[in-house]
Amino acid sequence: MLSLDVKLPKKEYKIYIGKSLFSESAELLRGFVEGKKVCIVSDTNVYPLYGKAVEEAVAKGGGEGFSLVVEAGEEAKSFKNLEYLCREIIRRDFTRSDVIIALGGGVVGDLTAFCASVVLRGVNLIQLPTTLLSQVDSSVGGKTAVNIPEGKNLVGSFYQPKMVIIDTDTLKTLPEREVACGMAEVIKYAAIRDEALYETLLSGSFEIEDVIAKCCSIKAGIVEKDELDKGERMLLNFGHTLGHAVENYTGYGTYSHGAAVAIGMCTITLWSERQGITKSGTYDKLKALCEKYNLPASIENLDKMTGAAMHDKKRSGSKISIVLVKDMGESYYEKVDVSLLDEIAREV
Ligand code: GLY
Repeated sequence: MLSLDVKLPKKEYKIYIGKSLFSESAELLRGFVEGKKVCIVSDTNVYPLYGKAVEEAVAKGGGEGFSLVVEAGEEAKSFKNLEYLCREIIRRDFTRSDVIIALGGGVVGDLTAFCASVVLRGVNLIQLPTTLLSQVDSSVGGKTAVNIPEGKNLVGSFYQPKMVIIDTDTLKTLPEREVACGMAEVIKYAAIRDEALYETLLSGSFEIEDVIAKCCSIKAGIVEKDELDKGERMLLNFGHTLGHAVENYTGYGTYSHGAAVAIGMCTITLWSERQGITKSGTYDKLKALCEKYNLPASIENLDKMTGAAMHDKKRSGSKISIVLVKDMGESYYEKVDVSLLDEIAREV
């Protein structure tokens, strides 16, 4: 088992990464759950696979557990489910020292973490992420959210977990499309911070635990410096602005989040290389890596997608942050006029 620390100014927590961790996590959980009520939140896909193992680990660790299961899918990140979770938790006489566990991918993680941050004004949260995307990104760093009709992730909070346990055996049951989706975020870390990770991914010869640990440690390092996303943390959005335009235009789910981000990363890098901002050859490296992991590097009609994106911001002529790589592993962000997105999409 690997472990690493996230050290924030006011709190610190551990991330554990390994095989078969859920069934063996009683000792990791004990310090948090012993003598406490423990609400395990999961979804209809994940609960049947890992719910019992986690319930047993909670019981073995001395906690009094119960599970709440929401419908799988993005729609679960709703105010309706938030209310459902809060009410069920309050009905069971929870106190602030009790514990909520998020068992699932990013949707369950974001919803549950938001619930943990608001119910009783904050109860202890443990993240047990089960998708590659949530293991390398959303379970670490404390962003929580639900969706509203006006957009995704528009209501939420920053709320750090007490611990993250990543059981890589869960990847064995993850559909290929979801593995590819998570790999886009892994590639993102290589592009923004770690040329050695790029070489590792290119070789294809690695233990997934090591790669996840590397991604979590890059993310932890960034979040430690900018927990509230006012500066350096924006680097984690490499490829995401164009990616969101793709997801929005094509309808969420048509392209996975990772596929859309891959298109975004490659497109902006092709553009920045043509501008002389990025070292020549970087786009080819990025494209080859995305394709190796079954991710697209481009899409037809991107100009229509950016044309439709960010209407309000365009009308007011406001600025957005974009992330650019200078070279593989070296990145920066800058504020630009929102119309640059259209220019990028037209020119590539
Ligand atoms: N997923 C990007 C962040 O946590 O800031």
